[in-house]
Amino acid sequence: MKLSTFGKKFTTESGILTLMDDLGNALAGDKEMIMMGGGNPAHIPEVEQRLKTRLQQVVDDPKTFRQLVGIYDPPQGHLGLLTDLAALLKKQLGWNITAKNIALTNGSQSGFFMLFNMFAGKFDDGSQRKIQLPLAPEYIGYADAGLEREFFTAGHPQIERQDDHLFKYRIDFNEVSIGEETGAICVSRPTNPTGNVITDEELARLDALAQQHDIPLMIDGAYGMPFPNLIYTPATPMWNENSIVCLSLSKLGLPAARTGIIVASEEVIQAVSGINAIINLASGSFGAVMTQELVKTGEIISLSNDVVRPHYKRRSEEAVSAFRKAFGDQLPYHIHKPEGAMFLWLWFEGLPISSQTLYERLKERGVVVVSGHHFFPGIDDDNWAHQHECIRVNYAAQEPAVVQRGIDIIAEEVRRAYAEG
Ligand SMILES: Cc1ncc(COP(=O)(O)O)c(C=O)c1O
Repeated sequence: MKLSTFGKKFTTESGILTLMDDLGNALAGDKEMIMMGGGNPAHIPEVEQRLKTRLQQVVDDPKTFRQLVGIYDPPQGHLGLLTDLAALLKKQLGWNITAKNIALTNGSQSGFFMLFNMFAGKFDDGSQRKIQLPLAPEYIGYADAGLEREFFTAGHPQIERQDDHLFKYRIDFNEVSIGEETGAICVSRPTNPTGNVITDEELARLDALAQQHDIPLMIDGAYGMPFPNLIYTPATPMWNENSIVCLSLSKLGLPAARTGIIVASEEVIQAVSGINAIINLASGSFGAVMTQELVKTGEIISLSNDVVRPHYKRRSEEAVSAFRKAFGDQLPYHIHKPEGAMFLWLWFEGLPISSQTLYERLKERGVVVVSGHHFFPGIDDDNWAHQHECIRVNYAAQEPAVVQRGIDIIAEEVRRAYAEG
């Protein structure tokens, strides 16, 4: 069999496979590595304890245990969870939805694959459409998810410099070009890798643009509202019939359950269920059975707001002050204002080496981060130096003392790189 046939449809050119492999290999090697690279959520004792208790209940109850391991759910997902989730989202956020507006997928990653290829790519009438990302940097996991090449277009952001070495990306609406060839708009809120949370005004403008062009607005809430709610700045959740909100159980503490949640119009949900049936037959039941009670009682919201969010917020503040201390006042570094998610996005303006070289040097020193150049899907402009001046650092997946050691080593290597320049 010629593997080039496979290569035509699926590419990993932007490096997610290489990156995941590299992160995996770093972990598997002999050397003890400080892993600040991947998107693994933190292991929060209170959350783990809550999940343990629930798992024990499930194991002790023959009917629920059978649901966990012995029954295929419908392609739309576990009906009990869909019903309870619709009720929760209606009560908490006022969204006018029923269970028919929700589908479960095996992780939101696979949900994006389905949705992107529903709305973009080649169509029967010969037309070709793309996904518009309002601003890059954006989530690397989108980059290879299209079944055709040149699947994304993205806008350069406006860079707003703030005090204390902080900056914030804002959508430059002159860069958001929507036309006949646009199939959907997609934005992660909070954004992986930057921790940016696009403002309510920006979101409202995107919503208006999407409605005006009769295309959906996809809002990736993997870190967003109402759970796990890793948002540290004022922001209002949004859903309407023209938008598609994608949630996930991963960052709440269940990445291994592979449960993604799509909230959309009934028509979109029917189409997603059809694709899910083809690809997966059914979505896994584990995440649904584990969380249905938390959703029914609303505890998933209090767990997010009272335990998960404060944990990440504290870790984010600790990481920012550790970086400030380690860099001192001499280096031209910038930290994206940490408004959400679990990463710090560091910009080293005028760095004499590329972020990829910095990544390699850090790996040699036993610290794994992610080079920022991976996070610019849809930007076809290799001359834009900014793409090669940033790194993403996960501050939450390791113990604070380990993160501190990693930060000190990052600061040493950055200082060395500037000194060489
Ligand atoms: C912004 C964003 N969206 C989607 C995903 C996919 O998450 P999952 O497939 O675990 O639900 C991730 C994972 O890190 C992410 O960071």
